[in-house]
Amino acid sequence: MKHFLDIHTTGKADLRSIIDQALAMKTARNGRPKGMPDDEQPLAGRMVALIFEKPSTRTRVSFDVGVRQMGGSTMVLSGSEMQLGHGETIADTARVLSRYVDLIMIRTFEEATLLEMAEYASVPVINGLTNRTHPCQIMADVMTFEEHRGPIAGRKVVWVGDGNNVCASVIHGAGQFGYDFTFSGPPPLDPDPEALDFARAQGVRAEIVRDPAQAVEGADLVIADTWVSMHDPQSAKERRHNQLRGYQVNEALMAKAKPDSLFMHCLPAHREDEVTSAVMDGPHSVIWDEAENRLHAQKAVMRWCLGV
Ligand code: CP
Ligand code: NVA
Repeated sequence: MKHFLDIHTTGKADLRSIIDQALAMKTARNGRPKGMPDDEQPLAGRMVALIFEKPSTRTRVSFDVGVRQMGGSTMVLSGSEMQLGHGETIADTARVLSRYVDLIMIRTFEEATLLEMAEYASVPVINGLTNRTHPCQIMADVMTFEEHRGPIAGRKVVWVGDGNNVCASVIHGAGQFGYDFTFSGPPPLDPDPEALDFARAQGVRAEIVRDPAQAVEGADLVIADTWVSMHDPQSAKERRHNQLRGYQVNEALMAKAKPDSLFMHCLPAHREDEVTSAVMDGPHSVIWDEAENRLHAQKAVMRWCLGV
């Protein structure tokens, strides 16, 4: 059973083969209309359940379109509408869904929910974001970097802001894809120490530099994300803004990175908070390619899971 649960729990060679396949499939589509099927139909006759316990634009649409382009069918389910949200256990839900569908993608709160789903499902399970990680995003990010700048191994990737779920997967990616990682944010919002340990154990640099201007020096890629994630209490908003005000990615900060550095953001972005419009819409930004590549990367993830 090949679940896609996290970057650090998927083998390096598998991750590389998924990225390569994603690039090949993107090239093969060659700009054809979105609704037109791929020449290859590896998901023909397959049914995919997409479960969302949190809001989503990109993950929802990219998975749905991706399955259809590969010849499969989807059903999009919101957690609150399912018995899952009304007391049926995750394990029982996993056992039942496995009798109906060939693949399950779930976006949920607790990592434990994802892991229980994977343990009891007899079909592959894909992590579509938890409070802890967002591995599909990082597959798209690595793909996007390599499309623009070549191999990411040995490059310097800097995260500016809250050390959140997406940040943890970027750190896992450092260990698996061989890039150096720098976090720049205030101490209460430091990233998952286990993720940092994982990256360091793979022999890459994973460091914390409090001063953002110093952190981005020599950066090949600068990444920002929202200051308040979906799992954070809304009451945290004002405090977060006060903590993170000095960590906005703006043109002055990008000017301290390498001249050909890239800027990424998983989106949705809060313009003029964590990043200015001048950076989002400026010459370093590859955010729309990054969003598009969710589609291609996840198609390759699904093929890998199903072995098709
Ligand atoms: N980046 C991302 O996962 O976006 P959505 O929350 O819109 O799916
Ligand atoms: N860190 C953000 C990412 C959204 C795609 C969140 O979890 O809300």
